[in-house]
Amino acid sequence: MQKRRVSSPAVYRIVGLVLVFLLSCRLQEFSESLGYCRTYPFDLPANVEKPAHPPDVCLTPARVELGRHLFYDKRLSLNQAQSCASCHKQELGFTDGRVRAQGSTGQTHPRNTLGLANVGYFESLTWFNPDLHRLDNQTLIPFFAEDTSTTIRELAISGKEHVITERLDSNPEYRQMFRAAFPGAAADVIHIARALSAFQTTLISYQTPYELGTMSESAQRGKALFYSESTGCFHCHGGRDFNLDDRAGKLWFQNVGLYNVAGKGDYPDVAVHGVSAARATQGLSLVTEKQEDRGKFRTPSLRNVAVTGPYMHDGSVATLEDVIEIFDQAGRNVQAAPFTGDGRKNPNKDPRVRPLGLTAAQKSDLIEFLRALTDECFLNEPRFSDPNAPPPTVPAYCK
Ligand code: HEC
Ligand code: HEC
Repeated sequence: MQKRRVSSPAVYRIVGLVLVFLLSCRLQEFSESLGYCRTYPFDLPANVEKPAHPPDVCLTPARVELGRHLFYDKRLSLNQAQSCASCHKQELGFTDGRVRAQGSTGQTHPRNTLGLANVGYFESLTWFNPDLHRLDNQTLIPFFAEDTSTTIRELAISGKEHVITERLDSNPEYRQMFRAAFPGAAADVIHIARALSAFQTTLISYQTPYELGTMSESAQRGKALFYSESTGCFHCHGGRDFNLDDRAGKLWFQNVGLYNVAGKGDYPDVAVHGVSAARATQGLSLVTEKQEDRGKFRTPSLRNVAVTGPYMHDGSVATLEDVIEIFDQAGRNVQAAPFTGDGRKNPNKDPRVRPLGLTAAQKSDLIEFLRALTDECFLNEPRFSDPNAPPPTVPAYCK
């Protein structure tokens, strides 16, 4: 009988390979802990800068791919009713088309869902929180948000994290993706959040008619109005994503005069106005606790704004026509109960929101300009779509 023998050089080679593999896993972790991060192949045109990302969420193709699968997976909610994509739908610029979001257990969120185009560039996240800077931290909110005065249960996994991680761990495909994305690390909620933030950082929009130079004449007139002192829109909606405040020099929070409940400067708030209000919707003052910050919300990006309605932090404005009407009037006079009050006279209103006296033609030009901020390439990009569904069809002109 012949003995099958593995020659010793082969053994050394195998052991060597295993060692190199283990070492490279450790090396990746070690180099990341020092802040080193290999450049992710974003594949952007030269005039579009890459989004910054915190060093411990170093972007790698494996992490982005894992994040994409997780983003679309309903197993991430305790009752398996919702994924991130249930509220953040690609074809709607990653919003949900609802007035206010609805969580996996049916509760209504106090605020309107924000779109995710270019979210990797934003240095503060959500409608009202100036202290929330990191995408991976933001991503933990939908998992752990509780039934409180300011928010609702979204994916509702608090205290049941192990159920989610066991669900994923029992799936060989996920085990493989996790190993590729985070060699040697546990498939825990922290790493789920990191992968999700890696995916979201790749959600970059730069192919709108505005950027491609294919705007209609009406949209071009609208652009001129938008960037002129006669409207002053650009003072708050400046920068590449139409959300930089030129006075603050960054993303900032303003009161545009949507409410002035009972003439007291309030926005609707369950603590003040009872159940007709959707929990606490006072904005920045939720964080700063300052009276003058009531009704101040982060200026939203206007990318894809034609498909992200309804509008404003509470979805209380149905159409772009209505939005323009409100800015033209320097606020909204709410005449119906329960939030009766003239928002135009809200004491916290930003002085840059003032009566504009726009003509009907100017209003429709402004709306045409806003429509020219829709990026069909972004809305149909297969890399951003549900990995378990047929990919969307990309228009031929897209890069
Ligand atoms: C129940 C609907 C819902 C679900 C589920 C949900 N979101 Fe959101 N998302 C929202 C709403 C509403 C906001 C605005 C929150 C606020 O201002 O407080 C938001 C805001 C965000 C933001 C901040 C965007 C910005 O411009 O600041 C990010 C990022 C985000 N969500 C990512 C996710 C991810 C990742 C998941 C899955 C883990 C997820 N969301 C699940 C409704 C949802
Ligand atoms: C003082 C700063 C400021 C000025 C000036 C301003 N905006 Fe805004 N804009 C905001 C803020 C803040 C919000 C969100 C307010 C809220 O939800 O309470 C907003 C909301 C919007 C929205 C809704 C977007 C969404 O996703 O809900 C549109 C559209 C818009 N603005 C367009 C314009 C146009 C057009 C002009 C000029 C006519 C303009 N804005 C002037 C700060 C400003």
